[in-house]
Amino acid sequence: MIDSHSHLFEEEFKDDLEECLQRCKENNVNKIILVGFSKETNLKAQEYSKKYNIFYPTAGVHPDEADDNYLEKFNDLVKFVDEHKVYAIGECGIDYHYTKENMEIQKKLLHLQCKLAIERDLPIIIHMRDATKDTYDILKEYQGKLRGVMHCYSGSLEMAYEFMKLGFYISLGGPVTFKNAKEPKDVAMNIPLDRLLIETDCPFLSPEPFRGKRNESANVFYVCKKIAELRGITFEEVERQTEENTKNLFRI
Ligand code: NI
Repeated sequence: MIDSHSHLFEEEFKDDLEECLQRCKENNVNKIILVGFSKETNLKAQEYSKKYNIFYPTAGVHPDEADDNYLEKFNDLVKFVDEHKVYAIGECGIDYHYTKENMEIQKKLLHLQCKLAIERDLPIIIHMRDATKDTYDILKEYQGKLRGVMHCYSGSLEMAYEFMKLGFYISLGGPVTFKNAKEPKDVAMNIPLDRLLIETDCPFLSPEPFRGKRNESANVFYVCKKIAELRGITFEEVERQTEENTKNLFRI
């Protein structure tokens, strides 16, 4: 199994990373996409990947970073990608959950990172929260040139199909196991299995039965299990196909 979106370099894991990796082994999680989102975390993803070969690092500038220094941050990212092996650009995207004040800068940052991903022939990892239309409109401009994943997708099934048409995979995380999460379940049951990825987004969004607690990559097991249950197929089938999808997307 592959956790296609993890932040195991975070503070939350500083005391028990080795135990977390041991639990990955026990749950048969053998690859982890380690996702950076800022200058500091992009570097951490590299450092961890040199130390542990389970990790595949990425680098990006998150919408939370969209401020007046955005161009400098983007230029730092370009330089970083020139100097390091990364498997994807991102996470990046649009997030209007807390503020829309910086929306123009968020959009500019996403455009720049789409172009960078195309230029370097890398997939892009998209974070989208309360911003479906603006995210879609931007990604559509690069249709046919860009490939990537809608990470921790929480939108409608209908929009999932639209993103797939643009060349995107759909990744589901912990929320698919939540009792009241209608849309992720709808997506899990209906989209073609060959477009689906699974993830944790740890330390956030723990699946049931750990909801509310710190999340970790080993828990992608519960996401896989839930999706198999919802689709009425075997665990191994979801495991095998999502693993193949993730390898195809990130070329690992
Ligand atoms: Ni994330």
